[in-house]
Amino acid sequence: LVLVVDFGAQYAQLIARRVREARVYSEIVPHTMPVAEMLAREPKAIILSGGPSSVYEEGAPTVDPDIFEAKVPVFGMCYGFQLMAQALGGAVAHTGAREYGRTSVQITAPGVLLGEIPDNHTVWMSHGDSVSAAPEGFDVLAATLVTPVAAFENLDRRLAGVQWHPEVLHTEHGQVVLEHFLHKIAGCRQTWTMVNIVDEQIDRIREQIGEHGHAICGLSGGVDSAVAAAVVQRAIGDRLTCVFVDHGLLRKGEAEQVERDFVAATGVDLHVVDAQKQFLDALAGVADPEEKRKIIGREFIRTFEAAEAEVLKKAMKRDPSVAGAKVAFLVQGTLYPDVVESGGGAGTSNIKSHHNVGGLPDDLEFELVEPLRTLFKDEVRLVGEQLGLPAEIVWRQPFPGPGLGIRIIGEVTAERLELLRDADAIAREELTRAGLDRDIWQMPVVLLADVRSVGVQGDGRTYGHPVVIRPVTSEDAMTADWARLPYDVLERISTRITNEVRDVNRVTLDVTSKPPGTIEWE
Ligand code: XMP
Repeated sequence: LVLVVDFGAQYAQLIARRVREARVYSEIVPHTMPVAEMLAREPKAIILSGGPSSVYEEGAPTVDPDIFEAKVPVFGMCYGFQLMAQALGGAVAHTGAREYGRTSVQITAPGVLLGEIPDNHTVWMSHGDSVSAAPEGFDVLAATLVTPVAAFENLDRRLAGVQWHPEVLHTEHGQVVLEHFLHKIAGCRQTWTMVNIVDEQIDRIREQIGEHGHAICGLSGGVDSAVAAAVVQRAIGDRLTCVFVDHGLLRKGEAEQVERDFVAATGVDLHVVDAQKQFLDALAGVADPEEKRKIIGREFIRTFEAAEAEVLKKAMKRDPSVAGAKVAFLVQGTLYPDVVESGGGAGTSNIKSHHNVGGLPDDLEFELVEPLRTLFKDEVRLVGEQLGLPAEIVWRQPFPGPGLGIRIIGEVTAERLELLRDADAIAREELTRAGLDRDIWQMPVVLLADVRSVGVQGDGRTYGHPVVIRPVTSEDAMTADWARLPYDVLERISTRITNEVRDVNRVTLDVTSKPPGTIEWE
């Protein structure tokens, strides 16, 4: 275990991911955690993340210097680097000279940390203060025009740091530097592999659910719930039932894919609820995005709970101990970023709600099973592959819970859904054909249902609807950039949609980043 101490930088999650890419398990802890508590977790190394621009800022977060005396290897990045320098008797100068963005760094004496890296390379910086003198016993490894001490190490004490951000994409050789610290200086072993993750989770789930417990999992068609279900199924077999609500707002072939491919790959017991009419009726006449979202959310919970009740009753008939135990398990695909963002914390939570689960004992509780709560999205995909789930499921683009309901701008009707489903299927097909699925985070296709524009097809005038395609790149959906798709791919998408989808006579491209736009239109 490597602990990443978060000083409020947006980079802590990225650092934790990079550590795992080096095959070492990592978790994020807040800088307010007492050092004794960190050490009690027996970390093999500790990384201090970036943070506010100045260690001299009023109220700037700091760290108990004991952390450097515990004989645990520590790596400081950016702000963490300055904290280390300051705590150990070096000097941090409040120079007023700033370095932001791409900076050239000159390696003066590579040491172990910067070994085998070109003398001059480009890194990503973001700092105002600079370390002007390294602490005693530290070797200075690199400098920039502004910063005389841009990297240092003390091999005896296994402490090291860099002024730049090795975790960001724009830093050359960043991952190499991190791996030098983890593997060569801290001596961390490379044990974080997908096989180990899966085995460990299966053991953990078996222990949690016990020999008689039954679990239910709501499948959304998305990656997370599918992988969570597959892991649990591996652990408890047919004591897992999956519920899939087909709300009619899915993309083409999606429901069939879940029914056919997912069941084929896992053998899971699947309970499909066809609620298409119910959702369409509830959405009739509604154009406001928030209202649509509320209606879809409400109907979803109603449908899901009714299905749960039915599934549990069946399980009780098969195995009366379910009722006796008065506890059942609900599987959720919660990911690590959700856990970190909601304040972290280990342990499982109980949800008692579900009062309206008809016909079940009042005090029936659901205990949550969250097999993915330590994983990042890319790791979830690898686990899915490891479990033999088909690529169509594992590499699917994220898809919002309210589905196509929030990609039709205007009222949702069966005809409009049909149009959008066809256009979306073409866009996805062409993206796949171009081999771009894994480069593009998501590519919503949006139907501007209340807008019409004039076109000409054959010899005739048309008066149809435009669709917008919105390809974006992103690491986590918090920010996104519009994807520069090759023109020939855009052309094929445009030509095919206007030729093959009745009533769509115009294809437009959304070139807005997030912020200011969001990924979805509603
Ligand atoms: P926005 O549009 O806010 O979306 O930039 C960020 C990411 O979240 C997805 N999204 C949702 N996912 N339920 C979900 O499960 C929702 O209500 C929802 N709204 C947006 C969106 O597809 C993107 O990946």
